[in-house]
Amino acid sequence: MIGIVANWRRPPAFVLAAAFVCASQFHAGHAQAQSTSLAEKIQLCSACHGEDGNSKLEKIPSLAGQPAFFTLNQLFLMREGVRKVEAMASIVKDLKDDDLNTLSQHFEKLPAKRSDEPVDPALAKHGAEIAATRRCGSCHLPSLAGQEQMPRLARQRVDYLIATLKSYRDSPRPGADTAMSAAIAGASDADIVALAHYAASL
Ligand code: HEC
Ligand code: HEC
Repeated sequence: MIGIVANWRRPPAFVLAAAFVCASQFHAGHAQAQSTSLAEKIQLCSACHGEDGNSKLEKIPSLAGQPAFFTLNQLFLMREGVRKVEAMASIVKDLKDDDLNTLSQHFEKLPAKRSDEPVDPALAKHGAEIAATRRCGSCHLPSLAGQEQMPRLARQRVDYLIATLKSYRDSPRPGADTAMSAAIAGASDADIVALAHYAASL
């Protein structure tokens, strides 16, 4: 089983999500009926990801301002059991395609705010140089606002950025994009901390 998961290679995110979004259009009629329960679901997310989508909890990512495509893709991977987030397992399993769509669009519209973690300007400056060398902006956009399946890094929590960058470098989770692991390969822990301070500072 472990072997199967490790060898599982997902099609490019845009193919997955696009097929999925199109399929969802057929169910659009149900969206109205589900609107109350959707508000309740957003309330559930808020407990961990913050009232306004900006997380105040350690190592829990903010969702505010994330490209809807990225969020949709990650929720889809979670619901299908490819990306495993234990804290969310019981919630995502009941989400319908319409829910994933509406939740993703909801969070995209919320303004991304900096967390109250301290950001070190010298580290941020060093991080900007590393980001330029490694061309992080070629995928995440120069402003690091993210696009399509590439997440927003700007104003994301420092502790989450550090943890997730280490995981792409050391042990990419099943379903994670291999392009990202290649982009961070060989970075030192100090480089990763600097990159996180840079992204959070934007
Ligand atoms: C009990 C806490 C908890 C709840 C409730 C919760 N999440 Fe999460 N969520 C997490 C944690 C922890 C992570 C980070 C997992 C990791 O480190 O990979 C996460 C990650 C995510 C991610 C990936 C973001 C990224 O930047 O990689 C998305 C998208 C997400 N959650 C959406 C939601 C939505 C939508 C809801 C409500 C339907 C929700 N979550 C409810 C704890 C929670
Ligand atoms: C070739 C395109 C590409 C390049 C270059 C790239 N990334 Fe990524 N990055 C991605 C993709 C795609 C994802 C989403 C991966 C997934 O599905 O798990 C991602 C995800 C991330 C995440 C996870 C954020 C979250 O909220 O879960 C971080 C952090 C990140 N990238 C930082 C960086 C940094 C820092 C650099 C430069 C060192 C960089 N990326 C360069 C494509 C890229």
